[in-house]
Amino acid sequence: MTRNQQAEVSEFLMTPEMSVIGKGKTFAIRTYGCQANVRDSETLSGLLKSMSFTEAEEEKDADVILFNTCAIRKNAEEHVLGEVGNLKPLKKKDPEKIFVLCGCMAQEEGIVDTLLKKYPQVDIIFGTHNLDRFPELLADFMHRRQRIVDVESIEGRITEGLPVSRTHRHKAYVNIMYGCDKFCTYCIVPYTRGKERSRKMEHILEEIREFKASGGKEVTLLGQNVNAYGKDLQMQDGFTQLLEQCALTGIDRIRFYTSHPRDYTSSTIDVMAKYDNIMNSLHLPVQSGSDEILKKMNRGYTSSRYFDLYDEIKAKIPQMTFTTDIIVGFPQETEEQFEDTLKLADYCKFDAAFTFIYSPREGTPAAAMLDNIPAEVKKERLERLNERIGMYARQKNEEYVGKTVEVLCDGISKKNDHVYAGYSADNKLVNFTANQVYAGDLVKVKITEARSYSLNGEMEEN
Ligand code: SAH
Ligand code: SF4
Ligand code: F3S
Repeated sequence: MTRNQQAEVSEFLMTPEMSVIGKGKTFAIRTYGCQANVRDSETLSGLLKSMSFTEAEEEKDADVILFNTCAIRKNAEEHVLGEVGNLKPLKKKDPEKIFVLCGCMAQEEGIVDTLLKKYPQVDIIFGTHNLDRFPELLADFMHRRQRIVDVESIEGRITEGLPVSRTHRHKAYVNIMYGCDKFCTYCIVPYTRGKERSRKMEHILEEIREFKASGGKEVTLLGQNVNAYGKDLQMQDGFTQLLEQCALTGIDRIRFYTSHPRDYTSSTIDVMAKYDNIMNSLHLPVQSGSDEILKKMNRGYTSSRYFDLYDEIKAKIPQMTFTTDIIVGFPQETEEQFEDTLKLADYCKFDAAFTFIYSPREGTPAAAMLDNIPAEVKKERLERLNERIGMYARQKNEEYVGKTVEVLCDGISKKNDHVYAGYSADNKLVNFTANQVYAGDLVKVKITEARSYSLNGEMEEN
């Protein structure tokens, strides 16, 4: 597939023989990494259920255990390999159990070699491009009990009509595109997820309409760089068109994730301002405040472009909340360049930020750059940045005290039985007390207390 070619689209079909193969057997899925993986796990779960497997109460009792993995940073990988190591005694006790490793780590040659050599307990390894083939691979393994490695190249296709078992009934992730063509020099995603390819607008809208018809309230449109939606379909300003059509479905809440400053257009901001069901929160990763570092990262924008975009959005939608991603300790980052990032944080006063120490990924251009920043300096920069980010996050949250926000209830809080949790329209995590509400209810909550990364409140009973 070259830049302007459309991805091949096929329709998924489950054969009658395949649909009974899991009768009486159970499965468990462990998901690492980003929302792309969370959504893929929902498909894998849907596939297993349509093969008659049921979900195990506890992972250790499952007949099939899947690890859907992430390769974004080295520590993510090391953690997974450690956990895979822990499966060894389980396999010894019950050799009938089937262990599957899929997701982004499976797309890395080096990792597959390691797994083959050192982790005999892993039975099936398959990549991010062939979820639709998983039933076949599993059936094949159950039949022959011979290790399977099935990892496709990075070109990528699109398969529509795959079953899905969603985590929530009231909110859903909806893929709008797969892969990434941006090739930021530090990032492994273009290698693990392949070329950027967009789903057809009619397929996306159909999924949203069906979800809404089944009682769904909120959709999050997913892509590594949603603002580039439709480029491969030769659409003009595709994301703006798509966003407007999604708003017109009348679903209560629309979010999207992740945005890239390079492809953001003014028309997208205008559509966001026009429709009330497009939520006023934006995740806009900046990565660094230094123009030299942004250049070395191949991000395709300068800090002033980021500021202009931020200002335009704030001007058109004053109540917008902003979150971001930042990497510290990129190869040869100077103290001055790092301070540019602090300055950017001072200007944008993010509501929250995911901050990371740069992690070299084999095969990426940055991994070949001289990385001369000592580990303690990187750690110290991360701490300084986190302190700054935390200060603004808290200040922002304090502005909510005494105000009433609309919350989509996710259910009972994990930490406290009498407290419910959900997200406000501008994506603040809100823990609140109420007499009785259910997951999927949209309720009004009066905020009584601000924390650094969440708000506490009481539901306003009518
Ligand atoms: N497509 C999204 C990001 C996906 S990865 C975007 O471009 O914004 C999520 C975040 O992980 C990135 O925004 C970046 O901050 C971080 N990240 C990616 N590669 C990394 C690396 N090699 N080391 C440290 N952090 C990294
Ligand atoms: Fe990685 Fe850059 Fe693509 Fe985001 S845009 S997934 S950081 S290459
Ligand atoms: Fe990780 Fe793959 Fe997502 S590397 S961040 S799971 S696209």
